[in-house]
This record gives sequence, C-alpha cells and structure tokens, in this order.
Amino acid sequence: MTQLFTRKEIEERNHKDNAAIIIDNVVYDVTRFLEDHPGGVEVLLDNAGKDASRCFRDVGHSEDAKLWRSEFKIGEVVKEEQWEIICQETETTQGRDELTLEGLLSVWLPPLAFAAVAVVAYIYLF
Ligand code: HEM
Repeated sequence: MTQLFTRKEIEERNHKDNAAIIIDNVVYDVTRFLEDHPGGVEVLLDNAGKDASRCFRDVGHSEDAKLWRSEFKIGEVVKEEQWEIICQETETTQGRDELTLEGLLSVWLPPLAFAAVAVVAYIYLF
C-alpha cells in the first residue's frame, strides 16, 4: 500500500541525514542519493522538505533521471494536499506497456512485407 504524507511531515525532512522532496505529489527520500546526484548535493538539499516539481521540470531532466528517481519513492502526498502535476511522465516511461494496433503494425509491417516479397520471388525463381 502507498504510504501517504502531509506536506508538513515532509517539511521536517530537510537536512542531509533525512532529506525528502516532493515531485508531482510523489515523495522521494533522497538522503542516500545526495552524494550521487549529478546536479550536486546543494540543489537537492536546498529543495529538501519542499515541493521540487518546478525545479525538477525546469532542469529538463532526462528520461534516465525520471526512471532513476522512482528508486527513491517512499510514498505520495495525501489527496487533499495534492497539486497540479507539471512534470508529466513522458511517453517512454508512461506508455511503454501499451500495445496499440498502430504500434504493432509499425514494427511488424516492414519485415512482413519483406517476407512476402521473398516468398513470391522464391516461388517465381524456383
Ligand atoms: C530523485 C530525484 C532526482 C533525480 C533521480 C535526479 C537525477 C539527475 C540526473 C541523472 C542528472 C544528470 C542530467 C540528466 O540525466 O538529466 C541531474 C542533473 C541535475 N539535477 Fe537532478 N535529479 C533529481 C532531483 C533534482 C531536483 C529536485 C533538482 C532541483 C531542485 C535537480 C537539479 C538538477 C540540476 C541543476 C542538474 C544539473 C543539470 C545540468 O548540469 O545541466 N535534480 N539530476
């Protein structure tokens, strides 16, 4: 079950031994990530205890960064205190499990067409 936090509870987690940030209503415990953050410790500590959605989005973090952050997820903000989501997951992280006819066709059509031509050529030649 997802653990829920109030924004007040997160506010207290604002130092290097206990650092949490909120991005798009999801709570991340970044304490053990501080030293590994490619953007530096400072920027994370400055945002510890706060909602860092805007900063995270404005930096233009890569898809890898968005996947990586999920390692640190510890819960979500309680429903009543959720804000508008501003840094949507992109298609590569959000829609990767979706199977669409269009997607299947774009993958399979070229090899199928090639196979059909090869079969016709084989029948014609031999
Ligand atoms: C768990 C959350 C986070 C993860 C996993 C993460 C990961 C990363 C990664 C992998 C990079 C290297 C560039 C890239 O691949 O995009 C990066 C750079 C950076 N990050 Fe984060 N980050 C997080 C949170 C934040 C937050 C909350 C801020 C700002 C408040 C921030 C500010 C920066 C900055 C300023 C850079 C340097 C950008 C540059 O050099 O152009 N990051 N971060």
